[in-house]
Amino acid sequence: MANDEFYNEVDLYLEARLLPKDPVLDDVIGAQDAAGLPPMAVSPLQGAFLKMLAQSIGARRILELGTFAGYSTVWLARALPDGGKVITLEHQNVNADLSEKNFARAGVSHLIEIRRGKAFKSMNIMINDGVEPFDLIFMDADKINYPVYIHQVLLLSRPGTVIVADNVVREGRILDDSGKDPSVRGVRTFLEKLTSHPQVESTALQTVGSKGHDGFAMMRVKS
Ligand code: DHB
Ligand code: MG
Repeated sequence: MANDEFYNEVDLYLEARLLPKDPVLDDVIGAQDAAGLPPMAVSPLQGAFLKMLAQSIGARRILELGTFAGYSTVWLARALPDGGKVITLEHQNVNADLSEKNFARAGVSHLIEIRRGKAFKSMNIMINDGVEPFDLIFMDADKINYPVYIHQVLLLSRPGTVIVADNVVREGRILDDSGKDPSVRGVRTFLEKLTSHPQVESTALQTVGSKGHDGFAMMRVKS
């Protein structure tokens, strides 16, 4: 979009002033680029936001859908108190392999458990096993299945659990009701499920920055 370069410059300005230099995270992004992966990871400022959110709610058990190259996973792992854990779900083996290297690079391997395979299947196993509910859940996997994932994620939550879903705006494509783009369709159906949902209160924030114009949805499971 026309303003992306400007948004990126503002993000760089803010990063330079607010975030400590972080060669390890730079290396994680470097490894993602070197592997030929597209720049889909959260931005540094967004990563710092996720970490602060996790710390603010005292998250001890964090679930992530969609590890990708592990960039957001490292941020989330850094928020954990002693004994905390991130479980992250990744369908693509090449991404999971790269992420494991990135976790080692960042010295957080012991805090992260990566589960390979479809998020749907991994979550069903956890639901059937009756695992302890998660405190924070970051949804960032395939947008097509967000309507399914929210159902599963709620079965892995407790009152007070905070759920953040990435990429719910996509340069405003979310307004396209033609049904042509499956990702847009998925996000729209997901958001419609949140309307008057008995279990959650929800909001969303549009964002601009190095990832263009997009947004997060945020949900909190009601008491
Ligand atoms: C895409 C996916 C993401 O999770 C993201 O943050 C940006 C882009 C994509 O599929 O294009
Ligand atoms: Mg994303």
